Amino acid sequence: MQKLQLITDYILFDTIFELDIQDQKLMNLAIESRKQAYAPYSNFSVGAAILLNNGKIVIGSNQENAAYPSGMCAERVAIYSAGSKYPRVSILKLAISASSSLKEIIQPVAPCGACRQAISEYEVNQNIPIEIFFMGESGKIIKVNSLKDLLPLSFDKSFL
Ligand code: THU
Repeated sequence: MQKLQLITDYILFDTIFELDIQDQKLMNLAIESRKQAYAPYSNFSVGAAILLNNGKIVIGSNQENAAYPSGMCAERVAIYSAGSKYPRVSILKLAISASSSLKEIIQPVAPCGACRQAISEYEVNQNIPIEIFFMGESGKIIKVNSLKDLLPLSFDKSFL
């Protein structure tokens, strides 16, 4: 038997202004996109902005539904949109911002497990790490250099 350890590196920024200008712009697009969320049931709005290797940016926001499980998270709206609009173009960065009309969210909001799995599919296929930045409505931002940092020991096509 061996006892092993997984170590996750991440970077914590105190404010959006600590990011590179290009990353600030991407996060600002996520914040703008968040305002287009359709979230009447949870009152929790999420925006995502993706930077592609061809310089294009693709955005998404969460889209809820009266049949709750039919709704979709912002990250997957954005990544599936990127995958369908620009197939085979690598995804370089993903910025995420979340807010609630019920309380102020100033801590970074990480992508849910299902979104991590969805992002993983693209990262595995492109073989280039995806930088992921996430924040609440305001305040600190967490950056990971790869989806692998959020989803270690992941399931992928190599098992099939
Ligand atoms: N949501 C996202 O858009 N992304 C996540 O990573 C977590 C949750 C959405 C789904 C739902 O519309 C609302 O936030 C509350 O869960």
